[in-house]
Amino acid sequence: MVREIRMTPSILNADFSQLESEISSIAEVSDFVHLDVMDNVFVPNFTFNFESAQKIIQSSALPVDAHLMVADCDYMGPRYASLGCASVTVHAEATQHISPLLKAIRAEGARAGLAVKPGTSIEHYVDILDVVDMFLIMTVEPGFGGQAFMDEMLPKIRRTREIIGDRPIWLQVDGGISLETIERATQAGADTFVAGSAVFKAQDPALMVASLRALAQNMAD
Ligand code: DX5
Ligand code: ZN
Repeated sequence: MVREIRMTPSILNADFSQLESEISSIAEVSDFVHLDVMDNVFVPNFTFNFESAQKIIQSSALPVDAHLMVADCDYMGPRYASLGCASVTVHAEATQHISPLLKAIRAEGARAGLAVKPGTSIEHYVDILDVVDMFLIMTVEPGFGGQAFMDEMLPKIRRTREIIGDRPIWLQVDGGISLETIERATQAGADTFVAGSAVFKAQDPALMVASLRALAQNMAD
């Protein structure tokens, strides 16, 4: 099966004091930049408040793929979408109103993403495929970069690909994606790849994104 591959590097492990140039350094080889928003409530870590995120989004050389790891995603999801993010992903575990929330994100002009933590089954969401533009299967516990890819998520990735069938829903993986793991994730069915430390700890981040893409593309063709 030929699948289109998308690279969405995360700046969580980039140099926060010069994010604009960090994003520019990967712009030519990436499709989106992945912005991890953490509130120290949904996850035990904090990254940006709304005002700082707004500045990053408005100055970004790449369209922004926002990953909201926040408790108040019912309110924040549409607000992030209204900032001009290309995509806004919310966690299934953080809302009781997943379907209206995804619709509200779309109504603000962004693609609507649904993320699940490692312990959350994808089976609860097979009935709402018409409001999902992207599934995000977490391959680490959300909160921190630099953790090891959880191989035990591979069956969930496979199952999500099966559920998607021929719908135009993207399947993103996030956590521990590297030269060593990207082929397994692609083989299981992923087509959209977050990589944080693998990219920004590399000597040449752009070359790393290109190398990761080549491995995934090769596996998907
Ligand atoms: C973790 C974040 C990830 C993180 C990935 O909660 O959602 O996007 O930046 O970092 P790596 O690629 O280092 O696992
Ligand atoms: Zn993320």
